[in-house]
Amino acid sequence: MKVLVVGGGGRCHAIADALRRSPKVEKIYVAPGNAGTAEVAENVPLKDTDVQGLLAFAQKKDIDLTVVGPEAALQAGIVDEFRSHGLRIFGPTAAAARIETSKEFAKELMMRYDIPTAAYRPFDDYREALDYVASRPLPAVLKYDGLAAGKGVVIARSMEEAEAALRDMLLDDKFGHGRVIVEDYLEGPEFSFMCFVSGSDVWPMPLAQDHKRAYDGDRGPNTGGMGAYSPVPFISEDERRFALDNIMKKTAAAMVLEGLPFTGVLYGGLMKTRDGIKVIEFNARFGDPETEVVLPRLKSDIVEIFSAVADGWELEHPLEWHDFSTVGVVLASKGYPGSYAKGAVIEGLDEVDGAVYHMGTASKEGRIVTAGGRVAIVGCAAPTLGEALEKCNREVGKVRCGNLYHRTDIGRKAIK
Ligand code: AMP
Ligand code: GLY
Repeated sequence: MKVLVVGGGGRCHAIADALRRSPKVEKIYVAPGNAGTAEVAENVPLKDTDVQGLLAFAQKKDIDLTVVGPEAALQAGIVDEFRSHGLRIFGPTAAAARIETSKEFAKELMMRYDIPTAAYRPFDDYREALDYVASRPLPAVLKYDGLAAGKGVVIARSMEEAEAALRDMLLDDKFGHGRVIVEDYLEGPEFSFMCFVSGSDVWPMPLAQDHKRAYDGDRGPNTGGMGAYSPVPFISEDERRFALDNIMKKTAAAMVLEGLPFTGVLYGGLMKTRDGIKVIEFNARFGDPETEVVLPRLKSDIVEIFSAVADGWELEHPLEWHDFSTVGVVLASKGYPGSYAKGAVIEGLDEVDGAVYHMGTASKEGRIVTAGGRVAIVGCAAPTLGEALEKCNREVGKVRCGNLYHRTDIGRKAIK
């Protein structure tokens, strides 16, 4: 089979790597890819949202299966467009992807089907939103309703903070013209539950946990994710089962009832609160960096899964997973998530005993250079999380670059 992966980050490198392990795959293309995907696939210089360009490419090259990484491509309608031309594609339609791209859609769905999540109200009026915040206990959680590159959520601990955030979102249209969801603040550890979903069929992946803050000890600004690990020992099997039945399967069934059957990866961003497990958000795609620590644990052939979901079939065999634990540490450009320089030479990537997935790299005169905020993720596997963490910290030290930083405590919280 010839497979096209749409996207350019570490998630797509990990997907390409999983595809490479399948005997069914003859050729992999990644659009646009990065310097790492160029080592396992052929990069195609097309933007992930260039739906017409990608469609023309897939038709010209007789691509048998396309796999979509980023939400922007889903929102641009890539799945609808490919399907209407009879091409096989793994991912949800733009309408089903609203479970991620519209917070209000996701919240309404959860309320209607009794899926556990924080109480909320939607607003488009600044004054009304502010009055509602004043009527509830602080902190308040304010979410811009749309894609805001992870920057659309503010936890306001005072009325002044709430005022400033609502002003940005509703009066100054900082992220565009949209609505705001105001929801109750929940407390507890978060984890990610990704499932392959084909209508009401749900095949769970092992749990993972992302680390959103930039620095050790969960300090510093929010980022796209500075590392992840899998499995998640603080979630018991009973709790996982609850989340699978009462959140993931229930949501997949709800989408079918709504006439928007979901196909692809449904990602539950979940929180273990005092009152049980609740949904913080849904994503309509593989998580990044969770994918980089979860897919290496997959024993089954990923092409069979992608194909079954794309074709709307049942899976022939249950999914099989390796028992080992994985830890992935992200190397980010100094300054990220603020402004940062690009073009610093990276050495030692090939000395790492583990998986190295490129996130934002380019090749220049035969050398790998930094080309993004998150640059690469080093992943290690071991029988226990503690060993994987130790190994990962050792291996990450082999990467030499003057302009990178990383966290040293990825997964530490999970180790007793
Ligand atoms: P979201 O984009 O909805 O995932 O929100 C980004 C981050 O904000 C989450 O990963 C949480 O850490 C935090 N967050 C979102 N909603 C809540 C909530 N209701 N209570 C507490 N924290 C939240
Ligand atoms: N790791 C969070 C996300 O993929 O949105």
